[in-house]
Amino acid sequence: MTPMLTRLLMMDRVRLSFKQKLVLNDLTFEIRRGETFGFLGPSGAGKTTTIKLLTRQLSKDSGTIELFSRPIENAHDADYERIGILSDTSSLYERMSIEDNLKFYASIRGMSDASIPGLLERVRLYDDRKTLIKKCSKGMRQRATLLAALIHDPELLFLDEPTSGLDPAARLEVHRMLKDLHDRGTTIFLTTHDMSEAEALCDRVGILDNGHLVACDTPMELKMRFAENRIMMVMDDAVAIETTKDAAGAAIIAEALESGKVLSIHSEEPSLNDVFLRLTGKEFE
Ligand SMILES: Nc1ncnc2c1ncn2[C@@H]1O[C@H](COP(=O)(O)OP(=O)(O)O)[C@@H](O)[C@H]1O
Ligand SMILES: [Mg+2]
Repeated sequence: MTPMLTRLLMMDRVRLSFKQKLVLNDLTFEIRRGETFGFLGPSGAGKTTTIKLLTRQLSKDSGTIELFSRPIENAHDADYERIGILSDTSSLYERMSIEDNLKFYASIRGMSDASIPGLLERVRLYDDRKTLIKKCSKGMRQRATLLAALIHDPELLFLDEPTSGLDPAARLEVHRMLKDLHDRGTTIFLTTHDMSEAEALCDRVGILDNGHLVACDTPMELKMRFAENRIMMVMDDAVAIETTKDAAGAAIIAEALESGKVLSIHSEEPSLNDVFLRLTGKEFE
């Protein structure tokens, strides 16, 4: 078995209600070692609730959850040393520097400070290490918060909307950091309501709607599942020719190319937004 196929975590037909409201409805999926798994869904779909179940901040009503091949009810303390969490309630001390915050988090974990300079270097915060959190930009702050979740070098990282509220540049910095973690073999469970983020970062995505997974696959497979059999050509006299991805289309495309008048040829690929619309009948917000 390749390492990629080792299952680190799985949920099987998990249900959870808050009062009368069914919030997670027969939720089933698994996360494999080394992958970045995107959990995608609109606001209120149940993403944060799922992370809370997986990190034992909540308990399910029924179904099975396994973490590191053990039912989550039997998880050992040592299992929690293997995970890192970044949630919207993760916080740093405003009046302390980036570096002192990380030293503080290391001390809580009973770790030495030895890894801190290297971590700061990796996310280009080393030169700013003495900056107080209250003086940091949102992007610096989020990278520092992520470092605090990484201080014990977890093999499985839960990130709840890690780029929400960031400007595009700060968002790209976080993406760079997550790609780097992925390259180092960290398994990442990431929630997002941003389709383009899921496409950029994730090996597989689960699409959640009203607490139920409506699809789970690679972004490419999901898009191909709903790909149209259409090819568009734009000619130099601004005429657009629409044809199909088959033998009949091949003849039309060959003829057009031979005429020397083709400006562009492209197939119509749905975005993950289109995929969501096709699966749920709703626009993704
Ligand atoms: N503590 C709670 N009590 C009651 N309802 C809750 C609670 N937490 C979440 N919910 C409801 O559960 C649903 C899923 O919420 P959540 O997991 O936060 O969604 P997401 O993170 O995808 O935006 C929402 O309808 C939300 O209102
Ligand atoms: Mg949420």
